Amino acid sequence: MKNQNVAATLVFPGGMSKSLEYARSRKGDGGRVIGASSLASDPASGQYDEWLYLPFVTDSRFEPQLKALLAQHKVTGIYTPNIVVWNHLKGLLDAPGTEVALVNTSPADADMSSYRKALKQANALLLNPVPIAADTTCQDSISEKELAALFREADLIPGMCDDEKMVALCEILRRSPQGDIVEIGSWWGKSAYILARLAKYYGTGKLLCVDPWSSDDLIQNDESGIVDAVVANLDVNEALTVFELNLLGANDGCVNYLRMTSVQGSERYRSGVPVATPSFGTTSYTGRISVLHIDGNHSFDAVKADVEAWTGYVIPGGWIIFDDYDWAYGDGPRVNADEFIRSNLYRVAVAFVMGGALFIQLSAGLKVDEGRRLEMLAELKRKSLQR
Ligand SMILES: C[S@@+](CC[C@H](N)C(=O)[O-])C[C@H]1O[C@@H](n2cnc3c(N)ncnc32)[C@H](O)[C@@H]1O
Repeated sequence: MKNQNVAATLVFPGGMSKSLEYARSRKGDGGRVIGASSLASDPASGQYDEWLYLPFVTDSRFEPQLKALLAQHKVTGIYTPNIVVWNHLKGLLDAPGTEVALVNTSPADADMSSYRKALKQANALLLNPVPIAADTTCQDSISEKELAALFREADLIPGMCDDEKMVALCEILRRSPQGDIVEIGSWWGKSAYILARLAKYYGTGKLLCVDPWSSDDLIQNDESGIVDAVVANLDVNEALTVFELNLLGANDGCVNYLRMTSVQGSERYRSGVPVATPSFGTTSYTGRISVLHIDGNHSFDAVKADVEAWTGYVIPGGWIIFDDYDWAYGDGPRVNADEFIRSNLYRVAVAFVMGGALFIQLSAGLKVDEGRRLEMLAELKRKSLQR
């Protein structure tokens, strides 16, 4: 029980899930929180250190009892996620001479904010599409509402794919040939979810996620050790379950995963045997990759192994994405991506960085100009000798 002389926040009605969430976070911050409700016996009462009864807001005793409670318990703020209660309290608390304030903005605004943000993002993308000189035809974008739905749902998934990278994914998926989408490194499934949804919208193909979800493979050997200090505490089995929860809704026979390293996964992929898991069922892949997302272990050796194991399956016009090309903790992705471009310059149609990732499109031309390739390699050699 907190010191009764410390200012408190009243949470009313205290049993709503948002109320309990708010109370927990305030308690975590060391704040004094008092829960209250109008139920004679509320099961939520046990979740608060202090609990009080208030009549229903429609009851004429509500206002005097609330005022007495606020004064007696040194309440300075009230949290309520109930829109009717919020509106009623706003009227009462706005009256002159009242020093208690609502601590949250209108629940309607709070509930709508993720939808409004997503619609704004979708609208911005449609008004200012990313100008990509891709080597493939570009499909019309999905609608504003479809984009907004995707942005909002992706926002609910924790992970390492920021808004800018998501926009780039939207733009390249509509410029991708048909084929499999392979993701190396999925963790909780944020980028996988975005890829699965886009692939479905644009009829690209099926998504295969390859990730060992193992503690050993999380070790990055990053220069500062800051990343490795975090990964030691992560629960890999929980991460796979979270991945499944996030991707099951997008499955529809088009998503599956291999719980193994990318090198083992590429051998399995080459075999052509359909991938089967209890959660996602059985999925067949074509053996031709349209989009390869390299987002596994970022050490130099691991990215090199990913490139060697998988890039050979990427078809003309297909994309290779090196996540964290700009990375604060090491240069495994950058060095390998640069080397990939250097040795494949003759067949690289487009390369750009967005959201820290490097997006490379292979030329869609059926025939590579061998003369041009040799010229470019000679030019690169000349330049590196000059350095
Ligand atoms: C940065 S996280 C992936 C983030 C994810 N794409 C997202 O959008 O949030 C890196 C993932 O790579 C996986 N990983 C590590 N070594 C790997 C390997 N050899 N092959 C495939 N995945 C690997 C890890 O288990 C981890 O889930």
